[in-house]
Amino acid sequence: MTTISKPLFIYLQRPDTGDWVTVGRYVLDTASGNGLFRYAPSYVQAGLSWSIDPVNLPFVPDRDFIAPRYHGLHDVLRDACPDAWGRLLIQREHGLPTTAHDLRYLALAGNADRWGALAVGSAKKPPAAHLATPRLAQLDTLIQELLAMSERRGPVDASLRKRLMTHASLGGARPKATVRDGAASWLVKPLIATDTVDIPLLEHATQQWGRVSGLDFADTVHHRAGAGISVVRVRRFDRDGAQRCMAISGASLLGTTYPGGASDASSWSYPRLAEELKRIGAPREDGIALFARMVFNAVVGNDDDHPRNHAARYDPTEKRWRLAPAFDVVPNPDDTPGRLTMQLSQGRHEIARDCIVRDAVRFGFGNIGEAEAYLDQLLVRLREGYEQVAGLLDAGLREKMQQRLRDNLGKLSR
Ligand SMILES: Nc1ncnc2c1ncn2[C@@H]1O[C@H](COP(=O)(O)OP(=O)(O)OP(=O)(O)O)[C@@H](O)[C@H]1O
Ligand SMILES: [Mg+2]
Repeated sequence: MTTISKPLFIYLQRPDTGDWVTVGRYVLDTASGNGLFRYAPSYVQAGLSWSIDPVNLPFVPDRDFIAPRYHGLHDVLRDACPDAWGRLLIQREHGLPTTAHDLRYLALAGNADRWGALAVGSAKKPPAAHLATPRLAQLDTLIQELLAMSERRGPVDASLRKRLMTHASLGGARPKATVRDGAASWLVKPLIATDTVDIPLLEHATQQWGRVSGLDFADTVHHRAGAGISVVRVRRFDRDGAQRCMAISGASLLGTTYPGGASDASSWSYPRLAEELKRIGAPREDGIALFARMVFNAVVGNDDDHPRNHAARYDPTEKRWRLAPAFDVVPNPDDTPGRLTMQLSQGRHEIARDCIVRDAVRFGFGNIGEAEAYLDQLLVRLREGYEQVAGLLDAGLREKMQQRLRDNLGKLSR
């Protein structure tokens, strides 16, 4: 009896022409648990050679790559799967058990909203038609529907509910959906019942804080939808009009499992991520940008800086991978954290100046002194940047962040 699953074909929207091609084929040997990926002969014969994951799946024709993690699913395919929120929807819609293989989620999540430039299907050739995502005009209805879904209420708009249930591919724990506004795609995340503070407002103000401080952070807009529900809308960096951009998560770059156990956490590290970026061809400035982002997270107290909250994307003009803009940067609303989730330097998670600068050379600085000078200037920029965005926050959050900033700047300054 064969134990090899039916092949799942992997499609890629070409970064140059926008055409969809079959880039490879995936099969799972259910007896051994080995998942195999192979670049498609048609892809090779067409002279195409983009790697869909430059760390774990370099472009090598005629080779079967065995997946080392995720029960046999390759990292970049895991990136194209939903996390807690999307999985919950798929479990409800298809009656999947919580123990279902990642592959089931990958196949059931739908291609219309999938992260990055990959899609999957059972046909050898990529499907010609791709579903449209909801437009911005429906923001109010979209929010009502997302909240009804998260609170397990019946549909407010049956056809929208259906569409959201079948487009559950995006990652993350919070309810979310994509809207299009002209050529731009945005991720929409509403306030939810368990939020102790206005998280969407805090996320918006923090993303803007990064931007006014001169860092590359995804743009955001804050809305009061329907009956005043707070909603943040985040510009998607993996979309450029109808073009989907190749993307890979920080977890894939680090070759680590996320979510994962304590043994995986040893490789969750900013300096290692900087080295991986360099290794896949990103310029030195991306290492420095990652250093700045780490400092930003330390200053604002964002300890939800896990490996899936970082990413790289392929730049078709420069023909190389670059660090993606920062996203999901949200200060811990309850406590001022003393540690970040990722290591700031080898084995060190503490929010402390010596931890920040110790491995600076691995980010691309010439020496520690250079990093110290950069850090001092950055801290000034962050303090000035806060003044520009403080007015976006409500009084309670403003007081909290003012205090946080004072404490952390005190801690990190010379
Ligand atoms: N601006 C963006 N552009 C492209 N993809 C994004 C963007 N923001 C988030 N994503 C993708 O969507 C996923 C979930 O988004 P996000 O991290 O904002 O959600 P979350 O539910 O708050 O996550 P978490 O579980 O980390 O709290 C991310 O892991 C990333 O893959
Ligand atoms: Mg996230």
